Amino acid sequence: MSPDDLKIWLNHFEYHAEHPRRIPEEIEDVLRAEERRLIARSIATFQLGEQSEGATLTRAVQRFASTHRMPSLIRIMELFIHEEQRHAALLRSFMEDHQIPLKSRDWTDKVFRRLRRRAGLELYLCVLVTAELIGNVYYRALACATGCQRLRVLCRTLVADELVHVAFESQLLLSLRDARPRWRRTLMRAAHRGFLAGTASVVWWTHRSLLRHAGYDLGTFVRLCLAQYSFYLEPVPISLASPSVR
Ligand SMILES: [Fe+2]
Ligand SMILES: [Fe+2]
Repeated sequence: MSPDDLKIWLNHFEYHAEHPRRIPEEIEDVLRAEERRLIARSIATFQLGEQSEGATLTRAVQRFASTHRMPSLIRIMELFIHEEQRHAALLRSFMEDHQIPLKSRDWTDKVFRRLRRRAGLELYLCVLVTAELIGNVYYRALACATGCQRLRVLCRTLVADELVHVAFESQLLLSLRDARPRWRRTLMRAAHRGFLAGTASVVWWTHRSLLRHAGYDLGTFVRLCLAQYSFYLEPVPISLASPSVR
């Protein structure tokens, strides 16, 4: 990642830190009892996932940034972690207002955290971007599953941030992978896609009532996750020029 790229990302995260996203207070905020039952455990798991002190990530980034002389990366990650904590706070506030209990542990969250704890920056990013890609598809599904305007706007707000997170993490991950021989990049891509498909399947299974209700069967959910993977992590050069006239 070039110094100019880092400057752009730093500007982005600084701007968002100074202008944190808010959900308008006057918005309609009615969650019907059956909707509450449908989403309660599911949204609590994602709220837990958004909540992290980011200690492992900070350590991995500090090691990497000092070796590669990229001090601004440390600040970017610090702001990124705050943005994720802001997501957790927005979800928590919605849940508290609707008497949805918070979760303090969940086995899928625990697996993600364990994997990241053992990782260097590259593996950490693989796991993180996997969670973010799945989160994006999930929050869209959650918005479809509810008639509550506040929750719909909240989901769209999270997706707007997460799309940028995935773009940032993908660029960083691709720049790290660039240093590897071609055969190894191919292997890592295949392994990462497999990991994403497997994880998305587990997430679909554990949130199936909500996802089915939103119209996402297993195949659709996994396909949408993989399509995002291709978009961000397997970019292909696209030409908009008209085909030459013969
Ligand atoms: Fe988030
Ligand atoms: Fe994120």
